[in-house]
Amino acid sequence: MTKQIATNVHWHEGEVTRADRNRLLDQKGATIWFTGLSGSGKSTVAVALEKVLTERGKLAYRLDGDNVRLGINKNLGFSAEDRAENIRRIGEVAKLFVDAGVIVLSSFVSPYRADRDLVRKLHADAGMDFIEVFVDVPLEEAERRDPKGLYKKARAGEIKNFTGIDDPYEAPLNPELVLPSHQMSLEAEVAAVLEILEQRGVLRGA
Ligand code: ADX
Repeated sequence: MTKQIATNVHWHEGEVTRADRNRLLDQKGATIWFTGLSGSGKSTVAVALEKVLTERGKLAYRLDGDNVRLGINKNLGFSAEDRAENIRRIGEVAKLFVDAGVIVLSSFVSPYRADRDLVRKLHADAGMDFIEVFVDVPLEEAERRDPKGLYKKARAGEIKNFTGIDDPYEAPLNPELVLPSHQMSLEAEVAAVLEILEQRGVLRGA
């Protein structure tokens, strides 16, 4: 049976707008997209930032590689094709959250520039903020940390297509922010992201 792709579907507006929700929450929904090697510290910054934002009365929600791969993307692996689909779906989910008024903290290796640029475009086309944050540590440092023991397994050939070992990582060319997490304190990293959120008006609703 050939698959029928949906046609004649259109976005349906309700009576409550994105602007209404932003006013209600006193913030502007936006996606902060952390990218970097496994073990670079993406999730660590996202967790810290989520806590600070929540303490300030802002609604933030983390979308995290490992969590998302346990659920909506459990049918995907790590081929270039599956990573592209992983990121495309996350991009669409992030957009829905942003439309709902939430500050999305997304941490995925997202090693391919084209995949990240697609998510950037999805946001731009919808008039949404997309803030790409490159958590930039040398491979040696990520491998030294090896929090999940995965680099060791990749070196031993037990995991194939591991980013940085036998699979590429394409660094962002024009990220909004670069965080060398091996040279900065966690507090400084959080402060740097907050500064951009202030500049973009994400922490104000009107
Ligand atoms: S992405 O490339 O598609 O963006 P994602 O961030 O969802 O990757 O998942 C990466 C996480 O899965 C890593 O932090 C690591 O824990 C685990 N992982 C398992 N296999 C691989 C692999 N081959 N390459 C990278 N990460 C892997």
